Amino acid sequence: MAEYETHSYDVLVIGAGGAGLRAAIEAANAGVTVGLVCKSLLGKAHTVMAEGGVAAALANTDERDSWQTHFADTMRGGQYLSNWRMVEHHAREAPARVRELEAWGAVFDRTPDGRILQRNFGGHKYPRLAHVGDRTGLEIIRTLQDHVIFQQVEVNMECTVVSLLRDGDRVTGALAYDRERGRFKMYSAGAVVLATGGTGRAYRITSNSWEYTGDGQSLAYNAGAALQDMEFVQFHPTGMVWPPSVRGILVTEGVRGEGGILVNNQGHRFMFDDIPENYRSQTADNEEEGWRYTQGDKNSRRPPELLTRDHVARCIMREVREGRGSPHGGVFLDISWISSKLPDAEAHIKRKLPSMYHQFKQLADIDITKEPMEVGPTTHYAMGGIRVDGDTQMTTVSGLFAAGECAAGLHGANRLGGNSLSDLLVFGKRAGEHAAIFAKQNPAVAAKPEAVDAIVNYALEPFGRNSDNTEGPYQIQHDLQGMMQDNVGIVRREAEMQHALEALAGLRERAASVAVPGNREFNPGWHTALDLANLLTISEAITRSALERKESRGGHFRDDYPAKDEAFAHFNIVVSRGTNGEMNVSRVPLPEIREDLKQIIEEEK
Ligand code: FUM
Repeated sequence: MAEYETHSYDVLVIGAGGAGLRAAIEAANAGVTVGLVCKSLLGKAHTVMAEGGVAAALANTDERDSWQTHFADTMRGGQYLSNWRMVEHHAREAPARVRELEAWGAVFDRTPDGRILQRNFGGHKYPRLAHVGDRTGLEIIRTLQDHVIFQQVEVNMECTVVSLLRDGDRVTGALAYDRERGRFKMYSAGAVVLATGGTGRAYRITSNSWEYTGDGQSLAYNAGAALQDMEFVQFHPTGMVWPPSVRGILVTEGVRGEGGILVNNQGHRFMFDDIPENYRSQTADNEEEGWRYTQGDKNSRRPPELLTRDHVARCIMREVREGRGSPHGGVFLDISWISSKLPDAEAHIKRKLPSMYHQFKQLADIDITKEPMEVGPTTHYAMGGIRVDGDTQMTTVSGLFAAGECAAGLHGANRLGGNSLSDLLVFGKRAGEHAAIFAKQNPAVAAKPEAVDAIVNYALEPFGRNSDNTEGPYQIQHDLQGMMQDNVGIVRREAEMQHALEALAGLRERAASVAVPGNREFNPGWHTALDLANLLTISEAITRSALERKESRGGHFRDDYPAKDEAFAHFNIVVSRGTNGEMNVSRVPLPEIREDLKQIIEEEK
């Protein structure tokens, strides 16, 4: 019999980024007991990488904005594959969620008359991103974290979940280990909320830190839940490319929102060369007009650097591929040029983009007030994830909820910047609320000891193998990341993805015989060996979904099918586990959109 601690809550929240914290707050508000488990230290979450702002139609900076315009922008950005009900909730509720944060102590930048200031971001028709310089995610995490402590939620830090627990068809808890001592912990719960973030660590170049190995998606999949839209991976156009040790670290879109321009090695502003037809009427065709827009001129159109992320990333790749890139394989992002426009440009840049100033000064010895930055695409966000109900955030498995990046639906084929922070606030709240309702009707159930034993035995297997004869986990993880970057990256082809499937089978075999030396006390090799299983599952789901979608749309670009195809416009690709453990891929039709919402989309066009 395995040894483990036991804990019981009405609602167990797994993940303590913005979505997990917001869900925990809401569940606690509903009067149930709440436990929060996180893989890392409290406050260390990818939420802080949403630097430039949270999208909400507050209409403070431009009174023409409305929830309807935010709805239409998000649907168009997602190329009409989003769950329209979620897009509606998101657009309607985001302003209240931002104001609530302010009431809880978040300190936003201000308009001259004292309201929350909003800035421009790609794909948003009006300046919509409420922000705190370029540290918005950090301020949101700080505020939510304070509130969670105030609500007396029990926090279990540095604790990784190995498997969800089930009772019949219902999820009833999770089995985890603490990273410091390697002790097992059994959590039983009435309802479980997954809020574990994204999958960026499946790629070599990413803005995601070590925690983001697709744990929630993989846990849900193994428990019988469906995943959807996994082919849509967002490559943020601007990550650092130099020096190599910091490659992939995010350079906020806020730089472009404040007037930053993209140029190639010939000094040419290449974003003017390729403006998509459906954004042409909204996009400036000369430098002067673009600049006026960033300065708040309501009669001007946005600069082409603020087109959607999928498009900007592909334009950058084109410049690099055709030999017009920067010395280290990116392009130049220049905010220093605004010194020709603003007398106090240096102070302005330091005030609006303080983290970017320090990041480049300290990591690359570049003064961004005087010199351009070198940037290139970095794996940033998973649009796909766990399939959920648009009202309650319940997955396709009873008692299991999901919110934030690990859930799918809101962003469709491409996410607009800033919609991730409003996503986690709106749907974190909804998940917490509905998990609490579910838990009140379905009390926690302790897991059967034999089920726990089986999971513990599985988790300890790498110690039982002879580490003299087999390889460790790091090389496998490294090979997996390189393989996904090369074969299922920004530009995809059938043959390369078929090769990826074969390579994944090989990596799976190697992972199954991985051995770790030492004992369970802080043993990162063991942790990595267990993370590998999740990375392999989500990499296969991404690859199979990408093979199934034989067109290009949003974050999914296929060189062999470079155009959008109407035949693929009306369904989500859904992945689920078959009875023999095989991965099934199906096409699930999108539900008919409500008539009044259809009309909004038409009018906003
Ligand atoms: O560029 C950024 O500040 C990132 C924002 C986001 O991903 O939402």
